[in-house]
Amino acid sequence: MIRIRWFTPLLVAPLVGGLALAATAPAPKAVATPKLAKPPTPGALAEPAAATQTGLPEILVKAVTPTDLRASKDVIELGKKLFFDARVSADGTVSCASCHDPDKGFTDHNQTAVGIRNQVGQRNSPTVLNALFNETQFWDGRAASLELQARLPILNPIEMGQKSEKDVVAALDRLPEYHESFMRLFGRPLNYDDLARAIAAYELTQVALDSPFDHFLLGEEKAIDAAAKRGWTLFNGKGRCMSCHGVNLTQPLGTDNKFHNIGVAAHKQNFVALAREALATVSRGTAEEIDRLALETRFSELGRFLVTKQQKDVGAFKTPGLRNVLVTHPYFHDGSSATLWDVMDHYNKGGVQNAFLDGGITRLGLTENEIDDLVMFMASLTSSRYKDLGQKELARQRQLSRTHRPDRDNTAALGKSPGFTGPLGDVPPNPTKIAKDPARIGGR
Ligand code: HEC
Ligand code: HEC
Repeated sequence: MIRIRWFTPLLVAPLVGGLALAATAPAPKAVATPKLAKPPTPGALAEPAAATQTGLPEILVKAVTPTDLRASKDVIELGKKLFFDARVSADGTVSCASCHDPDKGFTDHNQTAVGIRNQVGQRNSPTVLNALFNETQFWDGRAASLELQARLPILNPIEMGQKSEKDVVAALDRLPEYHESFMRLFGRPLNYDDLARAIAAYELTQVALDSPFDHFLLGEEKAIDAAAKRGWTLFNGKGRCMSCHGVNLTQPLGTDNKFHNIGVAAHKQNFVALAREALATVSRGTAEEIDRLALETRFSELGRFLVTKQQKDVGAFKTPGLRNVLVTHPYFHDGSSATLWDVMDHYNKGGVQNAFLDGGITRLGLTENEIDDLVMFMASLTSSRYKDLGQKELARQRQLSRTHRPDRDNTAALGKSPGFTGPLGDVPPNPTKIAKDPARIGGR
């Protein structure tokens, strides 16, 4: 891998601190502003799911579910009500479900999320399905648990827009239905901690496994078709996907729970200048401050770096699990890929080169048929809960992919162009042609 030395000064840049958040200009948006939709009402897909599903080791559920939240049906019901209640937002227009709609795989299918007063954020809404298994929450892992996560969107000015925890508590405790429920279930007046607890209790019920692939792993040969089987082989071999998205019986979700720069953010940023600026701007680094920087400013693209301030995390985002990925489009932290075919094109050409690109990302040389197979494998990770939506979605994406492949770059994918010369400088250098034994590259 080519290493570029100019990032060294980043490390020694002093932490000046103090600049107000307002001073950072919002990032320009290229796409037409989507409109905030009416908050959805809960349908069948919003129901708590079975805690035991094919493909799900029970021990895993126990490991991730805090004991005090596991049992109570009433708390879960309360959490569900809050999740769908737009009165949690400052002006009664946005609920959690506005951006995490069960009928859309607990996402919103927008490129990036739209919140209160039609404000558009910098990041794509990830799914709440199986979020209980995430070691950290958010694309940059800035929240350690579902409970800590739920506290932030309510107070974020461009999501649900409440001014303070106190305001939220006062607004909801005023409603007899909530006042009584909280008194009955928690034995004390409504407070912000219990509010987050109840919402998290509901989210903990959103397990969505039991996919055709789970049945295949457990020995049902015919549960997935030949294309998906070839895709599974490519996933673990030529595609190199399993080094970050490994799927197996004990780690069924398809994520290493780590953070990598795979070159998505490099599309629009001069990382080094941006990171330096961020170091000078991020003052306290509280959860609320990072939340605002991540959702409202161009520093968003720095990813995990905003949380750790470590050079290795520049442009790094959490490896998302691949369960139900078919129904949670568009893809990546910025929603920049519309279909799974676009995602494959991104990987096939080796991502977008930048000094912080993960070493595991290199051009793959996959053929069109191989790309189709990998997509079919990913489609086989769709839970039985989402079977119908999945089928429709696969047909839609396939159709779209026939006319719309903005990231396809066969020359780069096959290694036929020299390094760093594409329009985005996005082609990795070719390996030496004389090394017959790859283990000897690097001169042993
Ligand atoms: C305006 C849209 C919007 C609203 C409203 C909203 N979210 Fe989100 N949610 C997002 C976005 C965008 C992210 C990713 C932000 C990031 O990573 O920086 C996210 C992240 C999450 C995650 C982390 C998932 C993961 O894989 O890391 C969970 C869980 C979640 N939201 C639950 C909730 C809950 C609970 C509420 C209500 C209290 C809520 N959201 C309200 C847009 C929204
Ligand atoms: C070096 C680790 C790494 C490798 C290898 C890797 N991925 Fe990823 N994957 C990630 C990360 C990190 C993201 C999120 C990146 C972002 O949004 O900036 C991601 C995002 C995705 C997404 C989007 C999911 C969503 O919910 O938006 C899909 C689909 C995906 N990867 C599939 C694959 C496939 C298929 C392969 C193999 C061809 C692969 N990945 C190889 C780390 C990796």
